[in-house]
Amino acid sequence: MTTDKIYDPLPEGSQPKYKTAGYRRTGTLAPGGQMPPLRTLTELTGPRFEAPPPEDQNLVAGVDGLAIGQLIRIVVRVVDEDDRPQPGALIELWQANAAGKYQHPVDQRKAPIDGNFRSWGRGLADDKGEVVFLTIRPGAYPVPNTDGWWRPPHIHVSAYGSSFVSRLVTQVYFPGDPLNELDAILQGVPDAKARERLMLVPDESVGLHEEALGYRFDLVLRGRAATPLEN
Ligand SMILES: [Fe+2]
Repeated sequence: MTTDKIYDPLPEGSQPKYKTAGYRRTGTLAPGGQMPPLRTLTELTGPRFEAPPPEDQNLVAGVDGLAIGQLIRIVVRVVDEDDRPQPGALIELWQANAAGKYQHPVDQRKAPIDGNFRSWGRGLADDKGEVVFLTIRPGAYPVPNTDGWWRPPHIHVSAYGSSFVSRLVTQVYFPGDPLNELDAILQGVPDAKARERLMLVPDESVGLHEEALGYRFDLVLRGRAATPLEN
């Protein structure tokens, strides 16, 4: 059985190459040949995701108080090429804390851990294709074994569609941050307009009055305005 659909190819330069100069890790992670098509029922269907609880969309409500950092509220919206919302998509995000530290054993850098910060969130897109997260602006962090490369503040975002294999992963950035211009991963997307689509869009109506800055991010699945994918 096959349900492969044929979509127009994405515009040249709108996606990073599998191997990106300056991002050494892609040298070993990039596929060495043609990837096999997905054809079996198991690969193309299920599971159905249940809505995670509301606390999974709040990364800052710690047991001892609020997480440290600039509070931000983000509406992540999943749409197709015609701006049609995709309700039911499981949207996940993960990020460093305000000091640029990941809550993960691999991150052994000398930087403070924030016990009130939860480093990940998830939610099921509603009828508008949206999930709203309350979090903090993450800090920049240095990339080990490089010549002084620091990742700009960024948030990793993933969306699952109808199955485990229909997953998109990318990273979103804060517009105007000076480290954006120096980041090998962001700059690995050749087209400047496509890079622009990875920027959070400030939106006052999304923020919380005198409490949290508001941002929007649209994850566009296909078409000329498709979101660049970054791992
Ligand atoms: Fe990261």
